[in-house]
Amino acid sequence: MPHRRTAKLASWQIWLLTLSGGSLWLSGSAWLLLHYFGQTKGEFGPEINPIEPWMMKLHGLVLIPALLSIGGMFVAHIPKGWTHLHQRVAGIALCAILGLLIISGYMLYYVGSETVRPWTSIVHWSVGLGLPVIFVWHYLNGLRARRRGRAK
Ligand code: HEM
Ligand code: HEM
Repeated sequence: MPHRRTAKLASWQIWLLTLSGGSLWLSGSAWLLLHYFGQTKGEFGPEINPIEPWMMKLHGLVLIPALLSIGGMFVAHIPKGWTHLHQRVAGIALCAILGLLIISGYMLYYVGSETVRPWTSIVHWSVGLGLPVIFVWHYLNGLRARRRGRAK
């Protein structure tokens, strides 16, 4: 077998990425559903659903393991994977999307401006909804290349 610098992750890393990333996606999507379709009727008109703020508390909580597991990619995965051209494009796309989510997430939390917040929100959640597609693309790309390598 030819020597190959492997970017293979430990199974706990894949689990941590998938579970924390999946929880980020689910809490964000639940917030969207509650915010746009889940208002309750109050005494003085529509009111926000009481569960809505909890979804953001959950979003912020699962963000911690998500960022830790993403940070782990810089240690060996990205430098070793860099030589695999077929994964470089998908990997860079994944990094760009995560960077956009982190910057827009920070802005949602700390930029108070009433003109900036609405479009930051739309950028953040539309990119966020698409995150699993890029993640699965990158994952399957790696699997396919490994199978091809073995078949040689
Ligand atoms: C420029 C950046 C990146 C490059 C060049 C890259 C490269 C690679 C390569 C070469 C593989 C196949 C591994 C193998 O078959 O041995 C792979 C798989 C994978 N990558 Fe990346 N990657 C990058 C960024 C990321 C990021 C940011 C994440 C997560 C947030 C990630 C998560 C994964 C996962 C879950 C797999 C499948 C697990 C595995 O095959 O061990 N990658 N990547
Ligand atoms: C690394 C990835 C991510 C980071 C760093 C991140 C960060 C954040 C932060 C800091 C907030 C503001 C929290 C608050 O106002 O209490 C937020 C809000 C939100 N996030 Fe994320 N998030 C990420 C991924 C996602 C994903 C995958 C989705 C999928 C739908 C998503 C959907 C949302 C939604 C809907 C909001 C509320 C927007 C608003 O208040 O107008 N996020 N995110």
